[in-house]
Amino acid sequence: MTNQKYIPALSLKWLTPFYDWLVDQPMSGLRMRKDMLAQMGDLNSKRILDVGCGTGTLAAMVKQMYPDAEVVGLDGDSQILEIARSKAKSLGVDIRFEQGMSFDLPYPDASFDVVLTSFMLHHLEKDAKQKTAKEMYRVLRPDGRLIGMDFTEPRNIFGKTVMSLARPFERIADNLDGFLPVMFHEAGFKNYQETRYYLSGTISLFQSSAN
Ligand SMILES: C[S@@+](CC[C@H](N)C(=O)[O-])C[C@H]1O[C@@H](n2cnc3c(N)ncnc32)[C@H](O)[C@@H]1O
Repeated sequence: MTNQKYIPALSLKWLTPFYDWLVDQPMSGLRMRKDMLAQMGDLNSKRILDVGCGTGTLAAMVKQMYPDAEVVGLDGDSQILEIARSKAKSLGVDIRFEQGMSFDLPYPDASFDVVLTSFMLHHLEKDAKQKTAKEMYRVLRPDGRLIGMDFTEPRNIFGKTVMSLARPFERIADNLDGFLPVMFHEAGFKNYQETRYYLSGTISLFQSSAN
């Protein structure tokens, strides 16, 4: 049975208020979110779901760039959702932030054009990862797309060595063993591609289509 608990963004709840400072800002230097946004194409008038949205930075970037898009951010953690809501308010963007679990998405079948996910999958146990992939597939429209970013099978020896130190933490080992393409394929996704790598190929930007 899938464990209903989630791991907080930085593993310990008391660190959550520092997430943007510790992770978001260094990440913006690596252009990761901008690359992700560039990969999405024109999202105006589309319905977008960010699964494991955290402090809502990506969702806010999408809404700022595509004001006519309907953007929903989902996360299991009510504390981080409060940060996301106040960020959206201060940026003046209208985003629905909802509490829920990735492996039991509270949305009807075929209700989104694009599903996004960044740095959430490595928090999940293998079984929850598989259920999450199936749920993402279920809520996507037939012409829908998944765009994500997470730890992946390292591309070179340096990345393999560094990430071997991270293996015991959280549930990252499946990602490092190349499980993401397998699980998305099993969930029904087509044309899985890793389009860009970061930090010695330890992180990938990936996309896949519902059909
Ligand atoms: C490392 S943070 C990444 C947040 C954001 N996507 C980003 O890129 O900054 C992972 C987030 O996933 C959320 N999370 C973990 N497991 C989850 C699950 N099963 N369902 C929904 N959210 C989950 C955590 O609460 C946390 O906010």
